[in-house]
Amino acid sequence: MPENTPPRRGGRIEQLEGQLDILRRRLRIAVIYGGDKSADGAVIHQTFNPRSWKSYESVAEDIANALERLGFEHVTRVPDDMRLSQTLQREGIHLAWLNTGGVQGYNPVSHAPAMLEMLGVPYIGHDSLIAGTLDNKHIFKQELTYLGIPTAPFFTWHPARGPFRPKVNSRFLQTFQGYWGPYIVKPVSGRASLHVKFVEDESNLADAVAEVFEATENTVLIESFLPGQEYCIAVGGHIVARERVLTRMAEPFVFAGVQRVLAEDEKIFTSMDLQPITTERARLLEQETDAEILERLYEIARTVCLEMSLESLVRLDLREDGEGNLRVLEANPKPDLKMPSETATSLVCTALPGLGMDYDDLILSLLADRLDVLFRHKRGRVTHLTELLE
Ligand SMILES: Nc1ncnc2c1ncn2[C@@H]1O[C@H](COP(=O)(O)OP(=O)(O)OP(=O)(O)O)[C@@H](O)[C@H]1O
Ligand SMILES: [Mg+2]
Repeated sequence: MPENTPPRRGGRIEQLEGQLDILRRRLRIAVIYGGDKSADGAVIHQTFNPRSWKSYESVAEDIANALERLGFEHVTRVPDDMRLSQTLQREGIHLAWLNTGGVQGYNPVSHAPAMLEMLGVPYIGHDSLIAGTLDNKHIFKQELTYLGIPTAPFFTWHPARGPFRPKVNSRFLQTFQGYWGPYIVKPVSGRASLHVKFVEDESNLADAVAEVFEATENTVLIESFLPGQEYCIAVGGHIVARERVLTRMAEPFVFAGVQRVLAEDEKIFTSMDLQPITTERARLLEQETDAEILERLYEIARTVCLEMSLESLVRLDLREDGEGNLRVLEANPKPDLKMPSETATSLVCTALPGLGMDYDDLILSLLADRLDVLFRHKRGRVTHLTELLE
């Protein structure tokens, strides 16, 4: 990966460090994880989860603990549910950290940021439009197509449109241009490879689509199967902390280029719900040996970040087609930020030691970058934060 243009430490960075010092004592932060719809008082009516639900509470705990180690004196952990607004008001929360995939319903990753916008509480995370765009694979792929970034040819189906007959569907024929498999059939909004199916040829497509619809009650995505190597890359803001010292990069911070190592007969990367991410499963790409692929990953990540005006971290997942061309599979708007342990890590965190960063530096980078954007470009919505600095 090309070294990001040399970091800068200027007057504004020192000012930001000074602001963080004041905020450590005054800022009341809530780390929000996914609420359980079956908990008493969580929702009015329990409904369905088109996106497989997970609380992400243990990662929220990792983030909250890091914030406390960084010296923030008021950090609370709050579930994302119907009571969120009252809790934030009662606790006098100034800033939220979104580590939630939502509670239930459609587009659940966009619910909390939409509510926080309405409440006037700024947050670390994507706004509801971007979160929803990134978490709906077909919408994101439309965006990629517009940006000229390669992605596997794709087609969506919803049973409301009637029986699915690929052989006579003109749009299907136009999309796949005589390609008759293999395919991947998957939920448009999913996680951890759940309900992702490998389908050998078109004769089994309709059944696979029906199964994914049965599990998700949502539009189903059909893509051509990409047989090559699989990679991930993360991209965040411009402020980076190393050993707690902040610098500003001239370009977005692109890092954690990783190859997801597949076993010989493993067509779909095994769900992290079944097999934790280890360093054997996630090989960190090295500049000395993997410069060419890193360069390609870097360029795609940078383009997605800049062209979509992303304001928070994403992890892109990519795979090579039969000719070795990289194609983007998806973007994860809330990449796993599990703190590395003896037995498991997160794809994003595998890179930290090589960058001279530890977990707390990553958390500080994300927080500092967000505060920098809020103070510099969104002053009108953070007057309560500027007042804290007085
Ligand atoms: N078009 C494709 N060709 C080949 N493999 C694919 C394709 N789409 C998905 N896969 C496989 O399925 C896995 C899961 O797909 P994808 O990344 O789109 O969804 P996800 O379940 O949201 O992933 P994550 O675990 O990263 O949250 C990928 O890691 C990859 O191994
Ligand atoms: Mg993925």
